[in-house]
Amino acid sequence: MSALPAFAGRLVAWQKAAGRHDLPWQQTRDPYRIWLSEIMLQQTQVNTVIPYFQRFLARFPTLQALAEAPLDAVIEHWAGLGYYARARNLHRCAQQVVAVHAGKFPNSAAALSTLPGIGRSTAAAIAAFAFGQRSAILDGNVKRVLCRHFGIEGFPGQAAVERELWELAERLLPAHEIEAYTQGLMDLGATLCTRARPRCGECPLAASCAARLGGRQGELPSARPRPQLPERRAGFVLISDGRRLLLERRPPHGLWGGLLVPPEGEAAAVLARLGLRATRQSVLAPLKHAFTHFRLTLEPVLCIVEPPPGVGEPGLNWVALDTAATAGVPTPIRKLIERISGQAG
Ligand code: ADE
Repeated sequence: MSALPAFAGRLVAWQKAAGRHDLPWQQTRDPYRIWLSEIMLQQTQVNTVIPYFQRFLARFPTLQALAEAPLDAVIEHWAGLGYYARARNLHRCAQQVVAVHAGKFPNSAAALSTLPGIGRSTAAAIAAFAFGQRSAILDGNVKRVLCRHFGIEGFPGQAAVERELWELAERLLPAHEIEAYTQGLMDLGATLCTRARPRCGECPLAASCAARLGGRQGELPSARPRPQLPERRAGFVLISDGRRLLLERRPPHGLWGGLLVPPEGEAAAVLARLGLRATRQSVLAPLKHAFTHFRLTLEPVLCIVEPPPGVGEPGLNWVALDTAATAGVPTPIRKLIERISGQAG
């Protein structure tokens, strides 16, 4: 047989030497067992699946037996695996294969993917393992391997990135050894190319891996984009007499509850409310800050005032400029205060 291209060749050699070979659904070409294992493995780890797989087969030894069983019995043997739509689809799929395909799973990924519960990647895995068909898988683990090795940017759940990954997965398929190659991709993603702390030192693809070469294993695959947060803006009036800064204690609840913060609002209104008059006033650059549920643009205005004659309103605190930044103020306010500490005098 001709030599495989480097990516597939190294992966296949590694799978044979260091991959997994004795999982209960390996060493068989029985489509029923392979299908059952792939459905169970869709959202569940190998170690959890193994005992379920064995109990399930003991109770439903053939596709026919599964198709004829009551749904309740199927669900009962699935109990604990989660994602129960999988169990209902499994039962429907068994009945459909019996009714429409005379009890035999079709052997192409395209035909398999029309059956209940069998998506594109699961169809390809069944086609490869049960029928030796050359077809590309792309589950979460494989996406991670490909994003890292080929330095693919963007969240893999995004349609354009996913399309690129499928095209790549198709192009990489070797001309032969499809079973070892497919299992190798799964094994690499599950055992070495893990999300956290990948073991690149043992990886057969490390020499050509873009993430490894760039030290970007932690950045690839790219994280899900942050949801768009609502944008708000708020004016803050930094009032100083040249030596001190005026801070107000916020009400106990709500944003920055109980913390010291410069008065919020438009400068003219705030000064009027406090009975102060600015001798100098300057608009400062806005500052953006992300909260959990929204983004805030702080629009600061610096007002220099004459030193106030009396104690003023309760709740007002004149704090020395050089200590204001550390007086228990929220982070974006600290940044604003640090900006003006040099220029308020
Ligand atoms: N995850 C999905 N399919 C798998 C398989 N056949 N072996 C190991 N892990 C898997």
